[in-house]
Amino acid sequence: MVTATSITCSLLPCKGLQGSNRSLHWRKKETQWPRKAGPSITTAKFELKPPPYALNALEPHMSRETLEYHWGKHHRGYVENLNKQIMGTELDGMTLEDIIILLYNKGDLLPAFNNAAQIWNHDFFWESMQPGGGGKPSGEVLELIDRDFGSFEGFIKEFKSAASTQFGSGWTWLAYKANRLDVENAVNPRPSDEDKKLVVVKSPNAANPLVWDYSPLLTIDVWEHAYYLDFQNQRANYISIFLEKLVSWEEVSSRLDNAKARATERENEEWREEEEEESAGNDAMEMYLESETDDSESE
Ligand SMILES: [Fe+2]
Repeated sequence: MVTATSITCSLLPCKGLQGSNRSLHWRKKETQWPRKAGPSITTAKFELKPPPYALNALEPHMSRETLEYHWGKHHRGYVENLNKQIMGTELDGMTLEDIIILLYNKGDLLPAFNNAAQIWNHDFFWESMQPGGGGKPSGEVLELIDRDFGSFEGFIKEFKSAASTQFGSGWTWLAYKANRLDVENAVNPRPSDEDKKLVVVKSPNAANPLVWDYSPLLTIDVWEHAYYLDFQNQRANYISIFLEKLVSWEEVSSRLDNAKARATERENEEWREEEEEESAGNDAMEMYLESETDDSESE
């Protein structure tokens, strides 16, 4: 039995995708291209995406008032700030995911990184919940939770512990870790099924598991603005209600399918690259041998 796994990542030791030319494709680019008369100027503009339900749909567990402030003011502020910050910069026109990873790997965590990551995190958070959610998952999600945390109760304990102990502002995640970190100076071992596991991680402020190349499946926002209106300072009660009444396990299941497909796609891509390199090496060797034969014949 695999024991429950909890990883507390700080920002500094966990660099992801450094030196990689790969572009992550988590979601379609949410940009619009304004048409202006005169010289052609393209300007990316991110939009505030609404939650996939009405603002009162999560009541009585999460109030309309909380959604009005949390989505309508905080989330909106991140979008408006980022649009101002990236205008006319190299970030203009990039996806949120690429902005997050590029700035993280440059060590430039303020302020565009924070706004881009907070937009991504909040979109992901709203979609992690649904009216009538919570309870226990089924199917492969439950099977993997049982395998990687010992039991569903083991996962709940792990997730609650991580979310309640995140000091200050931050996020707690359930993520799929395929162990394919593409770091410039590292050589990855051959992938195996043992690499592919669910983990609970927490991240400070705006950071998220994309920067470690994990595939997030579920998140809870533990910034105080997420729960203060409904629970005041009782973060533990907010975490319990989130798990018991709000989690969208359907969405987690869909995200798990996408994460596995992405891991398989990347493995196949790496196999193809290795085969091409091997083939190129064999061609070079044959040319070398042919060249040697020609020299001996001419002597
Ligand atoms: Fe938030």
